[in-house]
Amino acid sequence: MKNRFTLFAAAALCAGAALAGLLPGTAADARAQGQPQGPDMAEMRRGMELMQKQMAVMTPDMVERANALSPEIKKFLVGVVLKHPRQSDTLTLRQVMEEILADYHAVATALATDNGELAADAARRIANHRLPRGGLLPYLPLDKVTTQGLSVLPSMEKAVEGSAHLLAAAAEKGDMVAAAQHFGTMTSGCVACHAHFRGQPGTSARVRAR
Ligand code: HEC
Repeated sequence: MKNRFTLFAAAALCAGAALAGLLPGTAADARAQGQPQGPDMAEMRRGMELMQKQMAVMTPDMVERANALSPEIKKFLVGVVLKHPRQSDTLTLRQVMEEILADYHAVATALATDNGELAADAARRIANHRLPRGGLLPYLPLDKVTTQGLSVLPSMEKAVEGSAHLLAAAAEKGDMVAAAQHFGTMTSGCVACHAHFRGQPGTSARVRAR
């Protein structure tokens, strides 16, 4: 099992190195656009440790799935743990989602009542949401935990977290019209991710399907 964690670490480190070598402009571009820079090697190593902490609580079949992912998706997942320092030892993804929903309601209330400060705070809490015990992967349908199945994650992250940050900045400036538009884009991210990974919540095996 130890070897497997190391494999994940090695693959993601290689991806980091490859990207750093192949795309030297990426960090500068990100800086120019005012976005957070890609993680450097020391950061990458720290991310890997966090990733291994998640993998330590996964079942062996889950670990195997995670290790089979492409270096690009692994690197993306390492970036996710680095960007989300609030990592719970007990909460499930559903509990984290309900927390996100509470903040989502707060944003909607704030937008409707011209309260830019509350909108900005709650939107940033959404962008900086907690990670559940074991990370995101164990809570997704097993057949979606593939390089292909997870390839949609970066665009969903951009729609939800990217828009949440833009929403916060607009709300803080008092531009509630722009903030409301970002709220729409953010919502489309929730919708797309649920359509891809979740299906109808709370169905029962004892009720005939429609
Ligand atoms: C990375 C994909 C992803 C994104 C983005 C996402 N969700 Fe979820 N969400 C899920 C998954 C998967 C579940 C099912 C979790 C489970 O049941 O274990 C879920 C469940 C939920 C639930 C629990 C009840 C239910 O319907 O299953 C709520 C509430 C929720 N999400 C709200 C939101 C909101 C609000 C947003 C946008 C701000 C959002 N989610 C964005 C993947 C996502």
